[in-house]
Amino acid sequence: MSNLHEMKKLVVLTGAGMSAESGLRTFRDMGGLWEEHDVYEVASPGGWQRDRAMVLRFYDERRKQLLETHPNQGHLGLVELEKDFEVWIVTQNVDDLHERAGSTRILHLHGELRKSRSTADPELVYDIDGWELKEGDLCEKGSQLRPNVVWFGEAVPAIEEAARVVSRADIFVIIGTSMNVYPAAGLINYVPEHVPIFIIDPNEVPVAGHPRIRVIRKKAGEGVLKFTEEIKDA
Ligand code: OAD
Repeated sequence: MSNLHEMKKLVVLTGAGMSAESGLRTFRDMGGLWEEHDVYEVASPGGWQRDRAMVLRFYDERRKQLLETHPNQGHLGLVELEKDFEVWIVTQNVDDLHERAGSTRILHLHGELRKSRSTADPELVYDIDGWELKEGDLCEKGSQLRPNVVWFGEAVPAIEEAARVVSRADIFVIIGTSMNVYPAAGLINYVPEHVPIFIIDPNEVPVAGHPRIRVIRKKAGEGVLKFTEEIKDA
């Protein structure tokens, strides 16, 4: 038995690969979303100004798919780890699969697909009922609602809190992210010295090669199981 005060902090940075086994596409792999969609058209303030309907359609499609998927073995494995660790999930994903799996400490760096936000007042955030967000859906002040996601060129409001969490980690795990997008990828620089870093990814990730990094070259589901075995033996 262990109580929370004795528990080590396990901080997990997740990306699209975390949800791949749930059936959601990643962005930069072969067949990834950015192969089919121009990121600046569907995920930037300029794209929103040019063609709101297209942006709304893109996220509606994502939301519709999300409602049909379920957390996978990897998400569930991270919940299991809460028995032995104070687990913090810092995710770049806009899906809610960590929440639905049952993880309790989750920071969304890039927003949440199932929420909308006022274009007049960023503090006004609402749950989206179902999958559709339409032109003409308004906040309580009468302004158009947009998806509550962070677009390219926009600030990442949760980054400071995430950096604080990472700087207190006893163990740091990176799962299913290509570490291409900043400031999220820069969080690795906040990991305290001597803290072990694990990477779970079936493909090579550019930060590998550091002596402190243990690479588990597996998909998220199997990889989290393997990590759990290794950490118990440590
Ligand atoms: P990427 O698509 O860039 O990277 C996905 C990573 O997941 C790659 O390293 C893959 O090798 C790995 N992967 C694929 N299948 C996997 C599996 N089954 N298990 C584990 N890993 C797997 O996605 P992100 O790094 O998350 O931002 O992308 C970061 C950000 O770029 C996203 O949050 C999004 C995107 O543009 C915004 O839209 C703001």
